[in-house]
Amino acid sequence: MQREGAAVVRLEDYRPTDYAIDTVDLDFRLDPTATQVTASLAVRRREPSPTQAENPPLILDGDGLKLKQVFVDGRTLSADEYEATPNRFTLHTPPHEPFTLKIVTEIDPENNTALMGLYRSSGVYTTQCEAEGFRRITYFYDRPDVLAVYTVRMEAPRAGTPVMLSNGNLIQSGPVDGSDRHYAVWHDPFPKPSYLFALVAGDLGSIHDEFVTASGRRVRLGIFCEHGKEERCRYAMDALKRSMRWDEEVFGREYDLDVFNIVAVSDFNMGAMENKGLNVFNDKYVLVDAETGTDMDYAHVEGVIAHEYFHNWTGDRITCRDWFQLCLKEGLTVFRDQEFSSDMRSRPVKRISDVIGLRQAQFPEDAGPLAHPVRPTAYREINNFYTATVYEKGAEICRMLKLVLGDEGFRAGMDLYFERHDGGAVTIEDFIECFAEATGRDLTQFSLWYHQAGTPKVTLSHTYDEKAETLSLSLAQELPRTPDNKPKEPQLIPLSFGLVGPDGQDLSWEDVDGPAALGEAGKDALGRGLILLSDKEMNLTFRGVRAEAVPSVLRGFSAPVHLEADLTDDDLFFLARQDTDAFNRWEALQSLARRAILSGYQTLASGGAASFDPRLAAAFAELAENTDFDPAFRALALALPSENEIAQLIAKDVDPDIVYETRQALAGFIGEKSAERIVEAAKREPAMPAYSPDADNAGRRALTFAAWRYQIAAGKARGQDEGTQVRRSFETATNLTERLAALRLLVHENLTGSSAALDAFFERYSDNPLVLDKWFAVQAMQPGHETLKKVEALTQNPAFSWKTPNRVYSLVRTFGAGNPTAFNRPDGAGYHFLANAIADLDKSNPSVASRLATCFRSYRLLEPGRRTHAEAALRALADRPDLSTDVADIVIRTLG
Ligand code: PHE
Ligand code: ZN
Repeated sequence: MQREGAAVVRLEDYRPTDYAIDTVDLDFRLDPTATQVTASLAVRRREPSPTQAENPPLILDGDGLKLKQVFVDGRTLSADEYEATPNRFTLHTPPHEPFTLKIVTEIDPENNTALMGLYRSSGVYTTQCEAEGFRRITYFYDRPDVLAVYTVRMEAPRAGTPVMLSNGNLIQSGPVDGSDRHYAVWHDPFPKPSYLFALVAGDLGSIHDEFVTASGRRVRLGIFCEHGKEERCRYAMDALKRSMRWDEEVFGREYDLDVFNIVAVSDFNMGAMENKGLNVFNDKYVLVDAETGTDMDYAHVEGVIAHEYFHNWTGDRITCRDWFQLCLKEGLTVFRDQEFSSDMRSRPVKRISDVIGLRQAQFPEDAGPLAHPVRPTAYREINNFYTATVYEKGAEICRMLKLVLGDEGFRAGMDLYFERHDGGAVTIEDFIECFAEATGRDLTQFSLWYHQAGTPKVTLSHTYDEKAETLSLSLAQELPRTPDNKPKEPQLIPLSFGLVGPDGQDLSWEDVDGPAALGEAGKDALGRGLILLSDKEMNLTFRGVRAEAVPSVLRGFSAPVHLEADLTDDDLFFLARQDTDAFNRWEALQSLARRAILSGYQTLASGGAASFDPRLAAAFAELAENTDFDPAFRALALALPSENEIAQLIAKDVDPDIVYETRQALAGFIGEKSAERIVEAAKREPAMPAYSPDADNAGRRALTFAAWRYQIAAGKARGQDEGTQVRRSFETATNLTERLAALRLLVHENLTGSSAALDAFFERYSDNPLVLDKWFAVQAMQPGHETLKKVEALTQNPAFSWKTPNRVYSLVRTFGAGNPTAFNRPDGAGYHFLANAIADLDKSNPSVASRLATCFRSYRLLEPGRRTHAEAALRALADRPDLSTDVADIVIRTLG
């Protein structure tokens, strides 16, 4: 939001508020353009100091507010007793005794296009208060360390607003005498910060269910959505109940209110929001069925429903002291939802998907100008810190903590955390301290993961001495320089490993010579197959290793690092076939593909023709055929590293067109050699004829699509259109997953019939916004320089709207973040298109605009021509006079 002066907020400046606000009574007279909000706040001085003559002024946050009236203990204030600007309320001399401050403001939900605070979406009143949206509703200490008990009354015409919801339990409702209006009063007994406040009112359909908690408490569950979409909420309801049970079983956490409601809205800046007892969701994470959601959508709904539900304990019951601690709730809750999904589905498949996501989103962030520590120490705009680093790297830290401490130590630390801090607003230090105390471990060095930005690089070299039967490992870590220019200390890096013997089994060893510094904990970890790399360099010699072994390190991706191991291609082929760790089998094949693409890139860039090792094509076929793995795993193993991942590895003077060409060439090569085998392997694993979204059937479908991809690639390499199968599938598909997969291939591989298919798809789904989003996204991702024109034309399509975040993300962000060849057109037109879109959008919705601006974060990797164009587009943007703090912050940091 645009705020005066956009000062930098620093962690070191944290201090508690002078006053506490113990209860908040809110009264909403809902009206589309003139909603009246009356807030009655019970205020008291935190630490009354009798010696002090006067209390310090009470200063509350506001954002664009219109003050109507203000009272202290029922008395109207005179003009010289306070000052109210749109962005701040100051009570000059508050009373000494606790008092009630009553503030009346008027707000305009209908014209709230930023979608922060109270806004209307398709006629439904909704709130979004994280991080600093509550101040757009009333003046308040809008910060997470001020916890209050809320009672919310709202009133509106019954017609048009039959449903009225807020946090907590409904305690009263009924008609407003002598009118066509009605009211409802909700009370939330749990003290909470303002960012967890929520209100929803409108004409909504709903489904209901019940959950009985472990201790026998009955909880009424509701999911609310647009009328007519109720049936599409069934899967979300099922996921919710499974989440509630799982949190009891795995973390010992029970739900605590009589009701738990979820509302799906179609205009929402983010994914979803964990407001206490009333989660508000972007409807794309609630609504799914076979005809309108893909297998991926089902998995996302399950994961996001779980995520928001899990926040009830990690976020709501225990919240953050200040916004620097955002990862306290987000990293931990992502970790929890990942664990949940792993238990619901296949653990290795979930892990691989998460690592692909980490490499796609977090590693580039950590390597670029927007890099920041998981627990930052300064920000200009907190909205810009809902990042992959805070969320995903934050989750990796929790995962490592569990690995380092062991399952029991981790659980003991979590239990202590819940017990000690329930009802509190705490810091990362408080969190870590619980684990240190519960296990007696010193976690000082481990904590550096929170404080040092950048992805560590670990190098490994190894030698085997046959005579002495010793295997030596030399490990080193290197921490990259990041924009803060801070000197870096070595981190504690947990490396899961095994020594893979000739027959594929892990070899044992008799003892280990290593640095004394390994200590008890380090030795104990080795016994669990874990190296705790704590120094800059470390040598370990394993004695009594009876045969030559290949070290398989970073199993399960035990730490978010780049690993450079001295493994030969032969070693990697061996691991891809033999490693007992599923993750590292996938990773070995990926490493080989990365090597092939990187060397192919160099060859193409210097005018040669790329050639590849036939063994690679054979290894792909072998994995496709290997029924020891489930189809979902095999589908993932068949996917090549993304263009973005390759660009990051090249790291300098990147030409995205050549990256694309090389990757296509490798796909063609594998296709030519192995498509038949891959296609046959997929045919042996068909999904059930009737659609079912379960992980097994989803995996079978994914394997089929992966096979199509190689069939098409092979056809291309031979100069034939192999699209017949895909076109037929598009026409006969009985579910969206298959129809969309076919459409994607037709469009992205530019096959005959692609535009007819696009038209048919549009026709079929013209009244379904969430599926239309996919129609836009498919086109935004079509490789090649011509796509920009199509995207520009699509912004003129009547179905497109700059007002709906999902639509903007699906077309514009997909183009900027998911289409390297098109966005990085050599003439720079892609950059200017995006910069203009950002500037326009910034006027109505700064949060969405600043999210688009992050598409530029890797521009410095590009070859000089594109780099110059990108920089010019960024500078032009930076020069605009009225940029929001949100966008200005991203643009300035990106330019560095
Ligand atoms: N706290 C939300 C989540 O991760 C994300 C969010 C942030 C939503 C800010 C809206 C605004 O669960
Ligand atoms: Zn969250």
